[in-house]
Amino acid sequence: MPEKVLVTREIPSAGLRVLEPFEVTVLHERPPEHRELLDAVRGVSGILSTATEKVDGEVMDAAGEGLRVVANMAVGYDNVDVAAAVHRGVVVTNTPGVLDETTADVAFMLLLAAARRLGEGERLLRAGHWEWWGPKQLLGRDVWGKRLGIVGFGRIGQAVARRAKGFGMEILYHNRSRREDAEQELGARYVELDELLETADFVSVHTPLTDETHHLIGAPELGKMKPEAVLVNTSRGPVVDEAALADALADGRNFAAGLDVYEQEPEVHPKLLELENVVLAPHIGSASVETRDKMAILAAENLAAVLRGEQPKTPVNG
Ligand code: GLV
Repeated sequence: MPEKVLVTREIPSAGLRVLEPFEVTVLHERPPEHRELLDAVRGVSGILSTATEKVDGEVMDAAGEGLRVVANMAVGYDNVDVAAAVHRGVVVTNTPGVLDETTADVAFMLLLAAARRLGEGERLLRAGHWEWWGPKQLLGRDVWGKRLGIVGFGRIGQAVARRAKGFGMEILYHNRSRREDAEQELGARYVELDELLETADFVSVHTPLTDETHHLIGAPELGKMKPEAVLVNTSRGPVVDEAALADALADGRNFAAGLDVYEQEPEVHPKLLELENVVLAPHIGSASVETRDKMAILAAENLAAVLRGEQPKTPVNG
């Protein structure tokens, strides 16, 4: 009897092919309700989840004693209760390494779009209000040659730094630990968070969401940023205090922002929706055909490895 596996969302078929040896149930395109998830996991040995599902102890218990792996199809795994998994002897895996460049592209896209007021310009044009080229129309801020502060200098933060280098930017970073090899390679300079906020023209956030990084960028931190600075967040919504950011942008205390992630997805703070100086993307950091295939394959391979009694490629809890 093949073991049972639950895939919580429709994923690229490349990932499903890896799971062919198992009895696979794929839920739907939309995220399942918690209740639905509790029903669907009953009796499964593996769960392939995405960032939209909260996989907590209750879900693991609903799956039962046979559950051995939760393979999250995302690099972030704040949606999985890892402590609860360890307690139950369940392996948790994520998908690091395959989405760095794709996510860095989106961070840089938001940085450019926010600095050069692309969203505002496009809205003006589409509304039929673009009357002429104007010497003072839609003046943004230069990106090239400016100072970029990267908060969280892991794989994605470093991929953003590589792009910034091509734009002749000076690169500062803040991270829990120094990354001396990357400093050498990218010409990046380690600074304390306050110095980064006070001196950078662009701040791009790339930390995982943990208790320590929740609201890492709140009203006091936004207040330290230069009034002409641009904030970009492609990590997790709760790393930035969205209400404080909306206030700062509305009052002109911060020039602009580019966001891909939100505190209560898919809800977006209503004030942000009204503002011209924020570019809003619907969590598309890793959303390319190539990368989503790789993420689905890696998540599925991790899951299959655990069920075959092998070591998965990218476990988060050893
Ligand atoms: C997506 O948000 C991810 O963490 O991979």
